[in-house]
Amino acid sequence: MLKTHTCGELRAGDAGKAVTLSGWVNRRRDHGGLIFLDLRDRFGITQVTVSDDPALNLPNAANPSNGANNGNNGSGALEIASQIRSEFVVKVSGSVQKRPQGFENPELETGEIEVIAADLEILSEARTPPFVISGSQGDEVDEAVRLKYRYLDLRRPKLSGNLRLRHEIVRFIRNFFYDRDFLEVETPILLKSTPEGARDFVVPSRIHPGRFYALPQSPQQMKQLLMIGGFERYFQIARCFRDEDLRADRQPEFTQLDLEMSFVEAGDVMALIEEMLISLSAKISDKPIQQTPFPVLTYDEAMAKYGIDRPDIRFGLQLFDVTEKVRNSRFGVFRNAVAAGGIVKGVRYPHGAKLSRKETDDLIEYVRPYGAKGLAWIGITGEAGDDGNYPNESLRSPIVKFLSQEEIAGIIEAAGAAQGDLILLVADEESVTNPALANLRLEIGARANLIDSNLLAFCWVVDFPLLEYDSDEDRWGAIHHPFTSARDEDWSILEQRPADVKAKAYDVVLNGWEIGGGSIRIHRSDQQMRMFQRLGLSESDVDEQFGHMLEAFQYGAPPHGGIAMGIERVVALYADAQSIREVMAFPKTATGTDLLLEAPSPVDDDQLAELHISVREQNESAQ
Ligand code: AMO
Ligand code: AMP
Repeated sequence: MLKTHTCGELRAGDAGKAVTLSGWVNRRRDHGGLIFLDLRDRFGITQVTVSDDPALNLPNAANPSNGANNGNNGSGALEIASQIRSEFVVKVSGSVQKRPQGFENPELETGEIEVIAADLEILSEARTPPFVISGSQGDEVDEAVRLKYRYLDLRRPKLSGNLRLRHEIVRFIRNFFYDRDFLEVETPILLKSTPEGARDFVVPSRIHPGRFYALPQSPQQMKQLLMIGGFERYFQIARCFRDEDLRADRQPEFTQLDLEMSFVEAGDVMALIEEMLISLSAKISDKPIQQTPFPVLTYDEAMAKYGIDRPDIRFGLQLFDVTEKVRNSRFGVFRNAVAAGGIVKGVRYPHGAKLSRKETDDLIEYVRPYGAKGLAWIGITGEAGDDGNYPNESLRSPIVKFLSQEEIAGIIEAAGAAQGDLILLVADEESVTNPALANLRLEIGARANLIDSNLLAFCWVVDFPLLEYDSDEDRWGAIHHPFTSARDEDWSILEQRPADVKAKAYDVVLNGWEIGGGSIRIHRSDQQMRMFQRLGLSESDVDEQFGHMLEAFQYGAPPHGGIAMGIERVVALYADAQSIREVMAFPKTATGTDLLLEAPSPVDDDQLAELHISVREQNESAQ
């Protein structure tokens, strides 16, 4: 037998037992005639003591059958132990002994005992690992090395802990939906293009030359077809594939909790997910939820107050808008931005007036990546006058000389700023100003220590626009996906005022991460056709890409809706991980490569020929 117990199992009450443990050597300490091995398996660490000291091997009075009587002659085991290095896989047989008083290790669950080795066997030797595996060291190791040797990284407590947490979360989710009459249905991976807004990964067909499957960006169409198939409540832990630019919270292949329900309205889906998230949080996290029921913000509110549709509401510091106050300003930057249809908004930096000129100017780095051309600032360094206004000598700013007293007072009031604060302003198109300030707000929140990392701040964002104008392509695109329904009252303006149409869509946000999104769907073929037309699809495009959906809707489609949650994002947030790579067993790098398997990789010419594919030379395809 290779093990009678796990390495996390033995306690003082087991003293005297004959046991066999197997695992990895976490650490070896050699004291001459005495060697300690910390033996590790998935369940814990147990100290194994190997000695040639006969005193250690004397039969235990209470258990005369143990100890020396196991055949331990000490020295054979000691000889083997001296060859052992970290990460060797070994099997130990011996007896459990309570550690002498004062030698207990409270850090280990098995710290009350040690196993006195009678017999030691090396099951597998190990090369010196490229990074330290035991303890919490290794976080600073280059991620590329950790990815190449992922199987070693998986031995480290941090990563294995994250994957265990992921397992617990998925298990909880499954049980939650089983208990509520949801059917778990698997949908195909070899599919046809599903429009979620990213590029598809495609798979060439051998049998059908020149034809391709697409991997699902989500099971969106399949779950809607399941509703038409009468399943009423479906869920799946579904793998999704999107060929898009990767970030800390995006991978080319990821997992969704995907669900769909018939005969529901938005509030029904939202209530169910909210219940799930509240009970999940209670089960697996010590952190309190900031507010229940979850606050609901409209998209417009979220953009106005936070500049982003996934606001981190753990802290206030809402953006403020001074567009109207500076519309006719003498300061050209503001006046011209407004005249061009832009907005002027700002954020307050509490106690930021004490920053040096350089530190203040450097804040521009947080807005520049979003296209902001500048960052205007006003520091309130002195006191207010008797009238409550701040005279110019109380302000430090490169722009107040261009502003009227009324404008300055208006900006300070809108910012809610007081002595010691710094006001930061961006003037640009909405699509620049909002994301730039949203990012700056997060930076200020972090610097000013306003973000309570111990909070779970959930919120819903609703009433998204249905469509957005794509100026490159000169057409309207679906913000969510083309199956999302407009609000009932907005169908009448779909053609004339597309920008004003709001969707029956909802996103759930946690601590500034979009963790899930869904919608009530169109279930009538006439409305679906109108939507496709609005998106500029020709009749033949519609027929080719979505004919099956339109046809299905003609055979009695129930009103339906659903949502999908990003499992990796949910787990990363509960695990306090900075990137979803930290909660995936085998993630890909930011350029979509697998460093362990070295994928993607070339395939041989025969395989390509079979697939009817010829690969262009790189310089040819770059043209
Ligand atoms: P959506 O595209 O909003 O909706 O995706 C739902 C959730 O999936 C997660 N997610 C990702 N996670 C990691 N890497 C990615 N590349 C990635 N892309 C998305 C996010 C997101 O909130 N079919 C619709 C859902 C529906 O309408 O029911 C859909 O996929 O957490
Ligand atoms: P300038 O007149 O270009 O030197 O700009 C004066 C101040 O306005 C500087 O502090 C700039 O950073 C700031 N500024 C320039 N462009 C913008 C803008 N689009 N939004 C906000 N501030 C800006």
